Amino acid sequence: METKGSLENHISALDIGNSLCIQMTLNTAIELDVLNIIAKSGPGAHLSSKEIVSQIPTTNPISAAKNLERILNLLSVNSFLSISLRPATANDKTVQEKAYGLTKNALCLAPKYQGVKHVKGDMFKSIPKTQSIMLKEVLHNWDDEHCKKILRKCWEALPNTGKVIVVEYVIMPQELKNTPEIVHSLTVDIMMMTLYNGGKQRTTDDFDNLAKSVGFIETKIFPITHVTCVIEFLKRNMV
Ligand SMILES: C[S@@+](CC[C@H](N)C(=O)[O-])C[C@H]1O[C@@H](n2cnc3c(N)ncnc32)[C@H](O)[C@@H]1O
Repeated sequence: METKGSLENHISALDIGNSLCIQMTLNTAIELDVLNIIAKSGPGAHLSSKEIVSQIPTTNPISAAKNLERILNLLSVNSFLSISLRPATANDKTVQEKAYGLTKNALCLAPKYQGVKHVKGDMFKSIPKTQSIMLKEVLHNWDDEHCKKILRKCWEALPNTGKVIVVEYVIMPQELKNTPEIVHSLTVDIMMMTLYNGGKQRTTDDFDNLAKSVGFIETKIFPITHVTCVIEFLKRNMV
């Protein structure tokens, strides 16, 4: 017979495998602008899934609200949202519906930082003109051809003195040891292989080759930890 402890261990082991769903759910909520829709309704506001869906373009609001409710429930039990119950209609106070508000955890995700302007767009089509461009854990989602397209768009957006700043886990093939960071990096490599067509973790040489192939002159590598690097692609040599 399972004791309470062993059931908890069993569920927690299953949850490690399913933790990707939490990330995907949070990403979906951010991309659908759900957190901002709640934030814009005022401090402490709680909205039902139907009210949120009414502010998202959709051709199928009824099933969208049902699916969104499932997303909101998972975010609630992971402390990103709080739930309050309220009457679903003014006439019948016995039927209750859930309304969702932002917790402190979610407030830090709602993009309202002073001096930061959010610009919608597709990095394969155009990137706003700027002095430097940071790509953190973006290139590893894409195969080499897509990475070159992104880097070409960066090139077009930068002045001659500009740079791309990449932050990624890098693979050091000569140092495949059983350290937590290397295990993590290789695990992410398999995730990239299975989730993204051609996505992968790269070596520093791989990054350098990508950058040089689209015209960047110099690659600078700054190791932050054993596998995490900040990598700069310079448009022209800085003397
Ligand atoms: C792995 S996430 C990294 C996000 C963030 N830089 C970080 O480190 O948490 C990849 C990001 O690329 C964005 N993305 C995917 N395709 C895109 C596109 N065509 N144009 C602009 N951004 C895109 C996704 O929305 C997602 O936020």
